[in-house]
Amino acid sequence: MEPALAAAPGDRRTVVSLFSRLRTADGQSNPLPFYAKLRTMGEVVPAPWGGHLATSYRLCHQVLRSRSWRVPDSGWRTCQDDAARWSAAASRQMGDTLPMLNPPHHTRMRRPLGNIFDRKSLEIIKPSVEKVIERLLDRLAEELREGPADFCALVGEELPVITIGEWLGIPSADYPLLRSLTHDQVYTQELFPTPSHLALSDAATHRLRQYFTELVQERRKAPGGDPISSWIRTWDALESDRHAADEAVYSLALFMVLAALETTAHVLSSMVWLLMKHPRQLEWLRIHPEHIPGAIDEVLRYDAPIHMISRVAAEDTELAGVRVRKNEMVQLMIGAAHHDPNQYADPGVFDIRRKATYLSFGGGIHYCLGNTLARLEATCLLTSLLKRLPSLRISAAPVWAPRVAFRRLTALQVVHT
Ligand code: HEM
Repeated sequence: MEPALAAAPGDRRTVVSLFSRLRTADGQSNPLPFYAKLRTMGEVVPAPWGGHLATSYRLCHQVLRSRSWRVPDSGWRTCQDDAARWSAAASRQMGDTLPMLNPPHHTRMRRPLGNIFDRKSLEIIKPSVEKVIERLLDRLAEELREGPADFCALVGEELPVITIGEWLGIPSADYPLLRSLTHDQVYTQELFPTPSHLALSDAATHRLRQYFTELVQERRKAPGGDPISSWIRTWDALESDRHAADEAVYSLALFMVLAALETTAHVLSSMVWLLMKHPRQLEWLRIHPEHIPGAIDEVLRYDAPIHMISRVAAEDTELAGVRVRKNEMVQLMIGAAHHDPNQYADPGVFDIRRKATYLSFGGGIHYCLGNTLARLEATCLLTSLLKRLPSLRISAAPVWAPRVAFRRLTALQVVHT
């Protein structure tokens, strides 16, 4: 086994420079060259800010599935030196949500949820998703009659919030607020949040806490057939302390919204961007709509909404022969892993017939609970778009938010010719 890696000054400068360029608008419009460079530095690259970066598919897959790796939970966060980063209110709140819990706490929270979006539930949700899509495309078509329209604002960002909002029984008047609070909250999950971003994230966290606490209280007073009322019944049976039961339900409802919005919005908009960039494949798909789910899988591989997932070592261990100390962080570079030539033939080629596996929804015990819902939204939307707006075209270069971990297309101008 090799000793713990300390970054050589040259490598350190290279990684710092790669990440600062990756964070710019240019880097976000095409991160692939940065990931290619990172992969040439090794399967495990020392992170100049501490911990390591895993750059290969093989390692990212292995770490996600292994019990030797834990998520950075609230206990881990309170022990970190960088108090501002890890003890910020927003970060502490994330530490209490499902994906940031370790067993046995994680098992206790996840098991009662079951498979919330199984085939039967999706059959119930599907007609309302289709109805929402028709409404959103009506509006898009109307705007397109006047000229270019922003697909992100009119469809990509709308469908996920309406879908999850209707599922949870949230009033539609609150969707814009939840969308904007979610955008601000996500800063705390980024690699290098600035103090002003952390402040925005903390303020959003405070408002979200207030919102979802009140929502749980309302459902307690007037329970219905919605998921929040059902989680209250479940947690009242599991937990004798009413306050603890409410906390569990609050944190579930909050995280469902946080988890569902930006991620799904990114898939919907990048699906349109990537297919419009590959018109021959788009035409082929129009003739072979049975391949729509496969095309969405390729969108999820080619440009996953989450490009980086964090884990910490449960004990002193090694990764690809490199020593990693207990509690040291490893950032799994999913965006780089999805273009690893040792895993995929021609990884830089967008190919909707590829039928490849990918890590966009994570793996192991934290595997995404909403993956089927996100895929349903994308499938229904693409099916309808192909029928209703056959001549949709991109009319201006898209705009991405300058981030590293969570991808976000902020504008995608389209025209219908
Ligand atoms: C394309 C859209 C989505 C992507 C790419 C995505 C991605 C992910 C990833 C990578 C994880 C694992 C995080 C980790 O291991 O640290 C995760 C977990 C989770 N996701 Fe998603 N997600 C999406 C949509 C959704 C939706 C729509 C929902 C719910 C309505 C949802 C609910 C969850 C939940 C509850 C977890 C935590 C599971 C656990 O820790 O046991 N996700 N998601």
